[in-house]
Amino acid sequence: MAVPRTAPILVASNRGPVSYTLDEDGSLTARRGGGGLVSGLSAIGPDANAVWACAALGEGDREAARRAGDNHLNPGDTGGQQVRMLDIAPDVFAAAYNGIANSVLWFVHHLLYQTPVEPVFDAEFADQWAAYETYNAAFADALAEEAVDEAVVLVQDYHLALVPAMLRERRPDLRIGHFSHTPWAPPDYYRLLPDDVAAGVLRGILGGDRAAFLTERWAGAFADCCTAVLGAEIVRDGDGAATAVRFEGRETRLGVHGLGADADFLRQRSRQADVDERLTSLRAQIGPDRKSIVRVDRTELSKNIVRGLLAYRRLLETHPEWRERVVHVAFAYPSRQDLAVYRDYTERVRRLADEINAEYGTAGWTPVALHVKDDFARSLAAYRLADVALVNPIRDGMNLVAKEVPVVSERGCALVLSREAGAYAELGDDALVVNPYDVEATARALDEALRMSDGERADRTKRLAAAATALPPQAWFLAQLRAL
Ligand code: G6P
Repeated sequence: MAVPRTAPILVASNRGPVSYTLDEDGSLTARRGGGGLVSGLSAIGPDANAVWACAALGEGDREAARRAGDNHLNPGDTGGQQVRMLDIAPDVFAAAYNGIANSVLWFVHHLLYQTPVEPVFDAEFADQWAAYETYNAAFADALAEEAVDEAVVLVQDYHLALVPAMLRERRPDLRIGHFSHTPWAPPDYYRLLPDDVAAGVLRGILGGDRAAFLTERWAGAFADCCTAVLGAEIVRDGDGAATAVRFEGRETRLGVHGLGADADFLRQRSRQADVDERLTSLRAQIGPDRKSIVRVDRTELSKNIVRGLLAYRRLLETHPEWRERVVHVAFAYPSRQDLAVYRDYTERVRRLADEINAEYGTAGWTPVALHVKDDFARSLAAYRLADVALVNPIRDGMNLVAKEVPVVSERGCALVLSREAGAYAELGDDALVVNPYDVEATARALDEALRMSDGERADRTKRLAAAATALPPQAWFLAQLRAL
């Protein structure tokens, strides 16, 4: 092992800040990722000796990880960041990631099971759970090797729920925090999980010094699960909010850090030439004198894209005055296509958009403009021109689209927002809030949003932007570090 015990700060996440494709001639092309963690980590600067541990996700990543051996990736590929990419056996990774992380833990926290028929916890599930343990142990081993005495380790998300406890076993000197980027399930739903798994996940996170969440609601649900499943004792503040969990003689503090939008980056990036170009072509596609209802999502079951389309169809049905005068610009970018339910959902979205276009479209007007090819510059262009943004998830840890739109919007944008998104806690006052299951109410909110006066829209957008940027990624990251 080439770099033992040198890192004072470590981050661990399934998806890392860089991904590789393996070209036919055997060369590797690196592509750097964005997102809150990447910009958050930049706050501590390149001299901090921080190390980021992540999993190799595809063939290109695995090749890069193999070439690096136990060393960090080539810093030229990572913007100078020290990245340890773990080469986990493909079958173990697939069972842990597609099986447990995405089909079980994600489903539980987003309440996505069709409970009369799913889930089925069978022998295959037991194998996947064993793989999840192996995959978490690989992270714990790598972090234990790299951390200096009393280093701070920030473990991210449901993929790595077992790491805090596993790491504490290996290195009791470390200060370990876990951050959940998802919602947390309420206890009655969480207890769908087999007892040992339900307890194992909680015990894993409670192995750390601190467990943090995007909103108080999710932190509270986690505490409730600790009581219901483990019989743990909850420490509460004067307002009744859970602040710590006491279990088996240890105390794990709870924290809340509502990740905000990165205003500086967004404002600068959204004014670049490639975004201008896309703005021009989106405007041409929408047509003059028409309003736009924009949504930007991964094609993800929890995002509720189908009900969003149904609500738009209902709007056209009940308010014929909007026909020919509005376009629903729906960006639904492919996600987790290894899973059949995601492929089916993608197909349903496509079919429904086609149906609406066949039903209401005219020679000069296509009611739904569905785009499925991921294009960040085009998303920013849509944020700039949107009259209405539709963010209606069934459940969402935060939802950064709701926070990014008001920052980038040029003339103000009315936000139709699900009360089940974490962002509701900060944006609820100035959004038009909907129950995401209620298609009728969502259609009415779309109508109200389209009718909102320019002045009111601009005022609300200004307040939304201020709330959305209260804790930008760098401050969010530093807050977690300091709290440990
Ligand atoms: C969303 C969630 C994160 C999660 C990520 C994983 O962004 O908010 O909590 O870590 O999805 O997505 P992936 O594409 O890596 O499965």
